[in-house]
Parts: sequence; structure tokens; C-alpha cells
Amino acid sequence: MLRVAVLVSGGGTNLQALIDGVGSGSIQNAEIVKVISNKSGVKALERAEKAGIPSEVIKKGDFEKAEDFEKALIDSIEKSDAELIVLAGFLLVLPPALVKKYENRIINIHPSLIPSFCGKGYYGLRVHEEALKRGVRVTGATVHFVDEGCDSGPIILQKAVNIIKDDTPETLQKRVMEEAEWKILPEAVNLIALGRIKVVNGKVEMT
Ligand code: GRF
Repeated sequence: MLRVAVLVSGGGTNLQALIDGVGSGSIQNAEIVKVISNKSGVKALERAEKAGIPSEVIKKGDFEKAEDFEKALIDSIEKSDAELIVLAGFLLVLPPALVKKYENRIINIHPSLIPSFCGKGYYGLRVHEEALKRGVRVTGATVHFVDEGCDSGPIILQKAVNIIKDDTPETLQKRVMEEAEWKILPEAVNLIALGRIKVVNGKVEMT
């Protein structure tokens, strides 16, 4: 069983997709052992509690120094014995020491087809605003491994979503979540748990 820790900051609908995937068996050979949030009172924590998953809140503001916050985050993950870390709407940049320690064992969901609309500053609604501003016909979501850059790690899965007339950033965000994010994130965890994903020369190979 692959031990998975999920890091969240908000609504936790992607976390829910993972909980449901484990529950329904569409994610095999994996268990969610811990949920860590950098914000208190968020819906993601309620979802964890309802599913009986231990959770912890680790807030940057509670620490005097950034290093102490980072250490607390790393300690919490280590204590959970997680083998895979999933960033499911986690809005902070991870400490480089964590990224290094868990090389090719941290994945992130991003709401666009990388390399479009990604990198510094591209999160939340902004991603969809920019896609609409540029007038692209197709957008989507990407699951990728996390490396020391921003949205630059090896791509695991992508799913396209068509932009339709009268889309607003909000309607587009909702469709990208429903049609892409909630599907490819559980699928990626399943593939990793089944040992079907390998990174070779910076690219993902799937068997
Ligand atoms: C998702 O759109 C995800 O791609 C982005 O943040 C959002 C999180 O939503 N990084 P939720 O907390 O999973 O509902």
C-alpha cells in the first residue's frame, strides 16, 4: 500500500476526488495517511475528518522564521511515513529541501495544459482569466511531478477541456475541475501506486 500525504489550502475538491477514488477502488494499492493544510477552517479539513483521515494545520504565520515553518512541514510529512505527497490545491511553494528529499515523489495538479498558463503567479482564477484573455479554444489540467522550478517538473497526465462561448473564469474553472482535475489526479495516484510511472531523463514513462 502506497502511503499518501495530501497537502491542501482550501476547498479540497481534489482531495475529495482522491478520497472517493480510494473508496471506490479506482485508486488501488494506496491509502491517504494524512492531510496537511496551511490554513485553518477550510473545507478540505472537514472532508478529511469525515473520511477519518488524520489532519494537521501548519500555518506560516504561527512561526517566527520561514525555516521553522518549513521544518514543521517536513517533520509532519516524515512522521506520517508518506511515500507520495500530493499537492491538491496547496498554494505555497514547497521548501527546496523537501523537494530534494522527495524527488519524483511529489505531484501537483495545475489547472491548465502546461506549458501554457503556468509558472509564477499562475494560480486559481488567474489561470482561467489569462486563458480567456488569450482566446485559446482548448485548455485543461496537468498532473506533474514537482521539481525545484515552478510547474516545471515531468508531466504525468493531461486532459483537455474545450472553451465554450460565454465562458467566464468562474465557469471555466468549474468545468476544468469537473472534467479534468478530478479525473486525472486520482488516475495519476493510481498509476504511481501500481508502479506504472517512471521518470527517465526528466520525462515520464508509463507502462
Ligand atoms: C484547483 O483548481 C487546483 O488545480 C488549483 O487549486 C484548486 C484547488 O481546488 N491548484 P480544491 O481545493 O481541490 O477544491
